[in-house]
Amino acid sequence: MKHFINLKDIPVNDLRKILIDAKLRKKQRENFNNLEIDKDKPLNGKLLIQMFEKPSSRTRLSFYLAIKQLGGGTITIRPNELHLGKGGETLADTAKILSTYGDGFMLRTDSDNKIVEFSKFLSIPVVNGLSPSSHPTQVLSDIFTVEEIKKKPISKLNITWVGDSNNVLNSLIASSIKFSFKLNIGCPENYEPKKIIMDWVKKNKNKISIYNNAIEAAKNADVIFSDKVISLNDKVNKTKKIKDFKNFKINSKLMKVAKKDVTFLHCLPRGNEVTDEVFLGKNSRVWQQALNRIHVQKSILLYCFGKLR
Ligand code: CP
Ligand code: NVA
Repeated sequence: MKHFINLKDIPVNDLRKILIDAKLRKKQRENFNNLEIDKDKPLNGKLLIQMFEKPSSRTRLSFYLAIKQLGGGTITIRPNELHLGKGGETLADTAKILSTYGDGFMLRTDSDNKIVEFSKFLSIPVVNGLSPSSHPTQVLSDIFTVEEIKKKPISKLNITWVGDSNNVLNSLIASSIKFSFKLNIGCPENYEPKKIIMDWVKKNKNKISIYNNAIEAAKNADVIFSDKVISLNDKVNKTKKIKDFKNFKINSKLMKVAKKDVTFLHCLPRGNEVTDEVFLGKNSRVWQQALNRIHVQKSILLYCFGKLR
């Protein structure tokens, strides 16, 4: 049994195995209906319990389809339906109950500490479905999408992020170290990644450059990523933050400085950080990116359950 909490703590060989498995499984189910089960039914009879402390469209639905396609089932619970958190039951007891009834636990939380605490008390794997500091299932799936589109290892590509230094970027930084790809970050002054992340980047002989200028960051990019300026956990002055990001919008002028066949990716939901022209344009592959979450999360679940081929 393995947890899937942060990319930085998972060996790159395991991450690569997940991507290879996802590619094979995706191919094997060409022309299958959404709810058709993979022929080998690797998680037959297994229950994934999902809990969301914050809204979710894609993570919820893609994990639903992922476990179903592997032969298992899922139930989604809301924190306000549990005794946990109201003083009625401890996290340790809740974890014991989740481990008694379920086989895996997927948690989207507003507390990084809560996932770590759960991992101590659960005897089933926990998957981080987004926390304030990371979004590992999203980013591993994005690596898959990049390699699928570009047909080459991500280590041979120039990746650019234009936007906030948030949970998704933290996971992208972790994967840039794991998979050894070049990452340019474009963000306004005072919105750079936290020192603790940058220290870790330096310690790992980084290939990461930070620019306070979106055009500089996007030059020669094979892929440009972005995300909302205001994240779910943001407790900031939203009007000021959006104003501070006014020169960091993904528009056609920015796309022109990248490579001609640049791909635009965005985890969604989107805000004003990208124009419709780019988001719905010919270089955007955001729907393929969203779809691939099902395939990669299936292989993440198999990794957690010790069933990866
Ligand atoms: N990208 C992503 O995690 O979307 P949701 O918030 O809809 O799950
Ligand atoms: N950074 C965003 C990602 C949403 C999928 C957030 O945390 O709200």
